[in-house]
Amino acid sequence: MGSTSKLVSFLPRRLEGKVALITGGASGIGKATAKLFARHGARILVADVQDDEGLSLCDALGPAAASYVHCDVTNESDVERAVDSAVSLHGKLDVMFNNAGIIEPGLSFLRSEPTSTFERVMATNALGVFLGTKHAARVMAPARSGSIVMTASTASALAGLADPAYTCSKHAVVGLMRSAAAELGRFGVRVNCVSPHGVVTRMSMKALGLEDEEETERAIEATAILKGVTLKAEDIAEAALYLASDESRYVSGQNLFVDGGFTVSKSL
Ligand SMILES: NC(=O)c1ccc[n+]([C@@H]2O[C@H](COP(=O)([O-])OP(=O)(O)OC[C@H]3O[C@@H](n4cnc5c(N)ncnc54)[C@H](O)[C@@H]3O)[C@@H](O)[C@H]2O)c1
Repeated sequence: MGSTSKLVSFLPRRLEGKVALITGGASGIGKATAKLFARHGARILVADVQDDEGLSLCDALGPAAASYVHCDVTNESDVERAVDSAVSLHGKLDVMFNNAGIIEPGLSFLRSEPTSTFERVMATNALGVFLGTKHAARVMAPARSGSIVMTASTASALAGLADPAYTCSKHAVVGLMRSAAAELGRFGVRVNCVSPHGVVTRMSMKALGLEDEEETERAIEATAILKGVTLKAEDIAEAALYLASDESRYVSGQNLFVDGGFTVSKSL
């Protein structure tokens, strides 16, 4: 055993015994979170529409740690089935990470985009979070415990960073999070958001119209307030880990910005 693997085996496993469902878990932030949660002892269900990528991630994590479930978050019966799979495979659901999301960067009030573009973004980013929360709550509330985490964005606080549909959908995620925290607290269920600044993923590359990862990283870094650190998907996974774990056992109703001070800075 090398020194790194020795060190890893001594790290505390902060999700030992927990069962976590991660939507949009096949790539980007969701994938980094699936890997981190598995390393911390959780049994994971990766829920996504990219079946090949989801299956190969679960293969790499191993069958004891991870299973894949096809789940389009805009389809209620898919979401219901994903939650039921967690319960039938592992007997419970402790953590729901409502992370799947899309962006349609060309959308604007002045361009003639079909209304369906707005509806598609809202269906994935807002309705999908509502459905994930609804079905997670269905099994968490009777168990009197659970942590629901949602990926919002700096666009949950500021307009003009993204198109109107994305901005609206991420504001809606915060509304859903607060509503769920208020309703589910008496059942011992906590609900929080994690809000990243830009991270190089397929979505941010699409948003910026770039195809090269390094160029995307440079473009994001040029907008950053905190210099000398590059925000990675793994950093968002660490924030989700905190909110998922018992270390945050009295934290609910919060939107945790992982943005290096971007949303509180005057120099935007
Ligand atoms: N990357 C960033 O800069 C950034 C910043 C702020 C917030 N976010 C948010 O982070 C989340 C993850 O995005 P990412 O950056 O990792 O992008 P990504 O494109 O790498 O991952 C998104 C995942 O969601 C999945 N997905 C899309 N539609 C789905 C649906 N209907 N049902 C199930 N899965 C679906 C995709 O297949 C993909 O695996 C999103 O909610 C996004 O809005 C990203």
